[in-house]
Amino acid sequence: MTLPILTVGPLARSRNGVIGRNGGLPWRIKSDLALFKSLTLFKPIIMGRKTWDSLPIKPLPGRMNIVLSRDGSFEPNKALVCETFNEAVDIAREQAEEDGAEEICVIGGYALFELALPRARRIYISEIDAEVEGDVTMPPFDETQWREVRREVHEKAEGDDYGFTFRVLERV
Ligand SMILES: NC(=O)c1ccc[n+]([C@@H]2O[C@H](COP(=O)([O-])OP(=O)(O)OC[C@H]3O[C@@H](n4cnc5c(N)ncnc54)[C@H](OP(=O)(O)O)[C@@H]3O)[C@@H](O)[C@H]2O)c1
Repeated sequence: MTLPILTVGPLARSRNGVIGRNGGLPWRIKSDLALFKSLTLFKPIIMGRKTWDSLPIKPLPGRMNIVLSRDGSFEPNKALVCETFNEAVDIAREQAEEDGAEEICVIGGYALFELALPRARRIYISEIDAEVEGDVTMPPFDETQWREVRREVHEKAEGDDYGFTFRVLERV
């Protein structure tokens, strides 16, 4: 059996790098949410506490939800809390191996992406076809260290504020 790999995302960022606004997403794009679900289902997901707070359904079903927080009194319902990223990855890896899941997905936000980028082998990123205002961005990363292995253009469909390009990047 191959060992599960760590992925950054799936995530969505605007042309100006924005991923969040006022504790939520700055857009509603149904097609991208469907993509997110299909890529993360039955895999452990790791997120920061604010991303957890932003979820409309908690926990996201069919996935082990692991939340990173420094707050010892934080006890979310049906999610596992870790105080360090290493601990979160170790637990996710054990679960993925047990379930035969091929990936562990780090789904945000800023600090979590920053922690995951040096260790990840793959990035799932939807490039939203818009410039938007927001208060959280995707941390910059050196694209020369990554090779694009898949690119799909999604025209704006019903239920989508914008169109987007879905990309899969793998570490060179
Ligand atoms: N577009 C996208 O793909 C996408 C993806 C994810 C999130 N978002 C958006 O991004 C925003 C949330 O992201 P964010 O960057 O503000 O917050 P976040 O990363 O989700 O959560 C930050 C919190 O995580 C905990 N944390 C962070 N680093 C830690 C560490 N090293 N050790 C232990 N705990 C740690 C802390 O929780 P405590 O304060 O509890 O200690 C911290 O306050 C929302 O607007 C959300 O909608 C967008």
